[in-house]
Amino acid sequence: MKKIIIAIDGFSSCGKSTLAKQLAKVLNYVFIDSGAMYRAITLYFLQHAVDIHNEVEVNNALQQISLSFDYNASMGKSDMLLNGENVEERIRSMEVTNKVSEVSTIKAVREFAVLQQQLMGDKKGIVMDGRDIGTTVFPDAELKVFVTANILVRTQRRLLELREKDKDITEDAVRKNLEMRDTIDSTRSISPLRKADDAIELDNSNITREQQLDIVLNWAKERMK
Ligand code: DC
Repeated sequence: MKKIIIAIDGFSSCGKSTLAKQLAKVLNYVFIDSGAMYRAITLYFLQHAVDIHNEVEVNNALQQISLSFDYNASMGKSDMLLNGENVEERIRSMEVTNKVSEVSTIKAVREFAVLQQQLMGDKKGIVMDGRDIGTTVFPDAELKVFVTANILVRTQRRLLELREKDKDITEDAVRKNLEMRDTIDSTRSISPLRKADDAIELDNSNITREQQLDIVLNWAKERMK
């Protein structure tokens, strides 16, 4: 069976990473969470008070950033390293989450991340999830999936995740953050979130993770022949 590239795109909290992680495990492929890269860049900008409206400051900051992944066997995925430091926990904070979509609209930031993502896929055998993987990062990916789920389902899923860390987080705050990110991600001028013409849409609002995996594995196996 030939090795392929699988691109998983969609709105926030649609279960893209869960699906991508499961696929990579079954197929013995590399899984890359491209959102983690934008989150790590955002964390660096926050830590160093980078003025994101100042092109020179942004470019200088990007030159100081080195992103890499470190496989975490217990989680079955790779942790994000920012300049060699494990920032997997910190990049999931609400502070980063509230800022990351805005940082992701910056041209220099996107060029910086996309170049590294493309290099990661040069040997194929990769599952990458994000917003522009099928449209910009890997326009020739053999399988492109565009995952959707209704906003109520997405809010509940995200709330469950966040409540583990922050008991006081409200449903309303989570929903507003998702809606804000949907708007910024899909209306930005550079590689906005949209379904690639040749992507298959998968609405997972009413199916289990196992059902979702079965469906996409069948699509993948067809393309690996
Ligand atoms: O998948 P996530 O929620 O961790 O992504 C965080 C943010 O990063 C998301 O709101 C938009 C941005 N992002 C992007 O612009 N392009 C990608 N390929 C992945 C994420």
